[in-house]
Amino acid sequence: MTSKKRGMRRGLTAYGDEEFSLFLRKAFIKAMGYTDDALERPIIGITNTFSGYNACHRTVPELIEAVKRGVMLAGGLPIEFPTITLHESFAHPTSMYLRNLMAIDTEEMIRAQPMDAVVLIGGCDKTVPALLMGAASANVPAIMLVTGPMLTGDHKGERLGACTDCRRFWGRFRAGEIDEQEINAVNAKLAPSAGTCMVMGTASTMALITEAMGMMLPGGACIPAVMSERMRQAEASGARAVALARERLTPDKIMTPDAFENALRTLLAVGGSTNAIVHLAAMAGRLGIGIDLDAFDRMGQDTPVLVDLKPTGQHYMEDLEKAGGLVAILRELRPLLKTRALTVTGKTLGQNIDAAAPGWKQDVVRPLKNPIFKAGGIAVLRGNLAPGGAIIKQAAASAELMTHTGRAVVFESLEDLAARIDDPKLDVHADDVLVLKNAGPKGAPGMPEAGYLPIPKKLAQKGVKDMVRISDARMSGTAFGSIVLHVTPESAVGGPLALVRNGDRIRLDVPNRRLELLVSEAELAARRKLWKQPRPRKADARGYRKLFLDTVTQADQGCDFDFLAERCTIRVPRASRK
Ligand code: FES
Repeated sequence: MTSKKRGMRRGLTAYGDEEFSLFLRKAFIKAMGYTDDALERPIIGITNTFSGYNACHRTVPELIEAVKRGVMLAGGLPIEFPTITLHESFAHPTSMYLRNLMAIDTEEMIRAQPMDAVVLIGGCDKTVPALLMGAASANVPAIMLVTGPMLTGDHKGERLGACTDCRRFWGRFRAGEIDEQEINAVNAKLAPSAGTCMVMGTASTMALITEAMGMMLPGGACIPAVMSERMRQAEASGARAVALARERLTPDKIMTPDAFENALRTLLAVGGSTNAIVHLAAMAGRLGIGIDLDAFDRMGQDTPVLVDLKPTGQHYMEDLEKAGGLVAILRELRPLLKTRALTVTGKTLGQNIDAAAPGWKQDVVRPLKNPIFKAGGIAVLRGNLAPGGAIIKQAAASAELMTHTGRAVVFESLEDLAARIDDPKLDVHADDVLVLKNAGPKGAPGMPEAGYLPIPKKLAQKGVKDMVRISDARMSGTAFGSIVLHVTPESAVGGPLALVRNGDRIRLDVPNRRLELLVSEAELAARRKLWKQPRPRKADARGYRKLFLDTVTQADQGCDFDFLAERCTIRVPRASRK
């Protein structure tokens, strides 16, 4: 329920006397130097997600200044406040473990402090979903501003980008193709500016689908972090936040089933990160909307991949910006979109597309008739190994491995993987299937991006570039390979993945959407009887970790905490309705 009170009168501290609460609040806020006139304006909160650990958010201070300018030019009072920030490489054990903490922090700080609207500044992978999850639950008018992608780097005349090229060069180093001096030189070039990873990783995907969902001003997803246009976008977002406050345009009016369908469609068309499925499920869950994975797979059958960006293609986010940004994609997708969905502009997605400047000739966004990948960029698999579903990003996989039967080479945990993957005595061949257990939401915990199992060194040195790999983990959107992810239920809760043994045969059949463990039901039943839940670790018994382990949901429900999602009353994508 949204508060009818405005400005400083919202969410008063409980002293049992509202007028006194307001009197006291004003006394303290005046210590910031505000006049009564300023305090009577619409108050626009601005989330400050800056941290010295988060280079993806390096520009947040200057974005805040620009947002403030926009708020004041539009007659509002901007007040920034801190929230948790998360960077992919600075979050142990993994950023996904902390996404819900950031979402709770955001929700409760929006609710606890007086604000008529909020500008959410994020960018790095988990920050955008966390901010939107929190804002959706708080349901105060909100607008998303991303920090924007990095520019590309270069090495010996070749363009480089985090982190597709991080993985590519690391693979070459492991295979002995380049030496230590060269890998160190590359290390200094992979993230050459402030901003988010500039390939179609999770940050770029989340930015694009947030704009498609209508929670960001048009054109906001692709502007590089260091461009002056990014500052203008920030100023415009601040100004628009004041209007959102006046119009009381809350997230529940924008993040509707239609908007989530547009987001899912866009995810498929951009060849986006598989992580976005988990985040969309979590965001939608906050609004009582469920993601139907099988319907999503069907949506994929008639949604081509249009965007030629790494890791599946050639280009980088700055090229997509030069090609026109998201609207160039939306124009192509238009016949498949819910164009009447409302956006933060106060207009529909269709009206926003119409208002954009006409497109021009470019080679980053393909026309619908000449796509990069015809359909099914992301496929949903079912079978006795994944009764709750599993995901594969076909567009980033080897075509010849999409139908494959192989012998399982099993790693029981991340520790086991690290200890044995490069053991010269490891019994492994190029046509085997690498299986990683206990790397799901509860298992690792936090479902790390460990699904991109490295090719065993002895095979990498023989030139093996790809193998079928299966786990209950996630994978970075910047990665590529024939990798089955999000196996549900996960092994740590006794899912069938827990029962796989070395030498079992596994069949992957992507055209028929199947993932099968070729072991008899009787044998699986016998193994199930013997299965023991992994022993709890000492750290599991207290604090946030206990809350996480007790309440985190499986990947198909977004890995949110079970007490944060609303009861699901509708599932998307829905069949056929335009
Ligand atoms: Fe922040 Fe890639 S690490 S977007």
